[in-house]
Amino acid sequence: MTSRLTSSLLNRTRRPLSALALDSAQAQFQLPAMPASLSMRPSKQRFDPSQHLTLDGPKSIHTLSAFGMDSKALNVPDFGATEPFRLFPKETVSIINSELEKYAMETTYRSPPFAPCVMRGLAHKSDFIRDLWEAPQLQSLLSSIVGIPIEPHPMAFERAHINVQEQKYSDSEMAQVLERQEAVDEQPVFGWHTDSQPFVCITMLSDPPEGAIGGETHVQKSNGEVVKLQFPAAGYSYLLQGSVIPHAAMPALNYKRVTMITSFVPSNPLFSEQTDLDLAIKYSPKKELTDEFVKYRCDYMSKRLKLLKREGLGSTSDGVEFCEKLLDEIMSDLKHTKDSLSRVKDVLTKP
Ligand SMILES: [Fe+2]
Repeated sequence: MTSRLTSSLLNRTRRPLSALALDSAQAQFQLPAMPASLSMRPSKQRFDPSQHLTLDGPKSIHTLSAFGMDSKALNVPDFGATEPFRLFPKETVSIINSELEKYAMETTYRSPPFAPCVMRGLAHKSDFIRDLWEAPQLQSLLSSIVGIPIEPHPMAFERAHINVQEQKYSDSEMAQVLERQEAVDEQPVFGWHTDSQPFVCITMLSDPPEGAIGGETHVQKSNGEVVKLQFPAAGYSYLLQGSVIPHAAMPALNYKRVTMITSFVPSNPLFSEQTDLDLAIKYSPKKELTDEFVKYRCDYMSKRLKLLKREGLGSTSDGVEFCEKLLDEIMSDLKHTKDSLSRVKDVLTKP
């Protein structure tokens, strides 16, 4: 026999939303407490931008135009990727690594073969890591590189994602590979793709040994030519417009490679943004991630609606066109949000 509670849950999805609204008005609401798994514990060391950041910036930047892409047609800034540059001094890297060790048990997810070992949710736990990515000095450096104001992704799960890539060959296997002069394995660990988040800042957290082989990120120009981004040392980062430039991660053949990936979004809501849950759901606490996603998408669409309300038709003759375009985008934002949720529905509803 079905209990009253179960039957009410069963009926929930068949009832109109207005009925649910009535239920909630009658229910005695209590805001849920932050799940223990997401609570923050103070770090031993406070983040200090004057000590823990290197703000010299990159020596070389690849624009989209240089890659043969039309940024105007894509409605994105003319920025492709930087060459790796030092963003964090050695001391910062060692603090970050000790934070990773501290939270390893609670944040490690294994989802082979595409993500054998990742860590997620560190920006929820470590105030050092949270403060580092929220530092205004870091944001203004990265914004000046891209050419528009950008900010860390509002979903904290999209900050400080850690990829741990074990070395592919042991030292003796590697010696044999080199002795036989076999062709080095060029199969990516993560194949060619573009990201759903607009920009990513990728930071190396492990020092590659002398004679390191592999571990580059390959980025592709529109003519198919490949540029290889290789980290010379821990503390180096590169910034990439990963939603536009196809890229692939190559295996580290003779060393362990640990990287930290933080996504960034444009601050101006006129820029469109298409974050989804497709990959993240496979290696994050599902409910917390989805809640964060829904809240983020609501905030993002609210900002766009406020912009529409504020700008209105304006005084220009193309005011109607502006309203139409923005409304079209907001409708597609809504559809994108719904479709993203629908695609992960099965995963979410599994017991
Ligand atoms: Fe990517």
